[in-house]
Amino acid sequence: MSDAAIGIFDSGIGGLTVMRALVARLPDEEFIYLGDTARLPYGTKSGDTVTRYAVQAAAALTKRKVKMLVVACNTVSAVALPALQEMFAPVPVVGVIVPGAEAAVTAAPKGPIAIIATEGTVKGGAYVRAIEDHGRSIPVIQQACSLFVSIAEEGLLDGGIAEAIARRYLDPLLAAVPKPKALVLGCTHFPALKTTIAKVAGPDIKLVDSAETTAKAVEKILREKNIKRAGGKKPSHTFLATDAPDRFARVGEIFLGQPIDPGSVELVDLQS
Ligand code: DGL
Repeated sequence: MSDAAIGIFDSGIGGLTVMRALVARLPDEEFIYLGDTARLPYGTKSGDTVTRYAVQAAAALTKRKVKMLVVACNTVSAVALPALQEMFAPVPVVGVIVPGAEAAVTAAPKGPIAIIATEGTVKGGAYVRAIEDHGRSIPVIQQACSLFVSIAEEGLLDGGIAEAIARRYLDPLLAAVPKPKALVLGCTHFPALKTTIAKVAGPDIKLVDSAETTAKAVEKILREKNIKRAGGKKPSHTFLATDAPDRFARVGEIFLGQPIDPGSVELVDLQS
């Protein structure tokens, strides 16, 4: 079991920011990443549809005998995590919301905490509940930033257009009284826009990215279950996409932070 890969999935390529943190923390592990590029975005779809898609993605990965599933998509983590955990037990299923909320509470223990995410994540209120679960009454405000997903996919990470969009979304949050102390990047695509978001948010607000804390949570489970892969053998990284493998490789590099060979991205059909 220790030698089996860790399965990661997302609605598209944004979850590669989570894979990047996982590879950095767990360099000996093998990873199989699945991006449902044919059906992105999930963030504007209903909870039922997102859950159906997520079950198909998780099933495709468990068929490949993964030892753990990492839901690298905030929207799926927000609406479908308990269903996935029940359906795919005993394979551990880790989402990004609880680790992200933990990081936010550490960054701003008294709040206020601002969350930016997709429409689906904001509506579901999963970050708000995860912060409440820390047992303290911390003020939380949320803002859906759907356009961030499209501009990140276009590679429009900085410059006038990215800044104007960031101001449009962040200004209402920045005008809140008292002003937020931490801002959670509650969507896989947003870390790619970190420089622009930080510029607009200003130096007094800590930006929180759940990728790091998710990687820590995954490492903890591997240790507890004694299923860490031994070092010394070169690990493989496999990429699966439901559409446009060439685009996955080209744009995915921005999120993964390293080149992806287009020939290494396999086209898969989740509905067959
Ligand atoms: N992966 C999604 C998330 O983290 C963003 C992209 C989408 O809407 O599918 O919420």
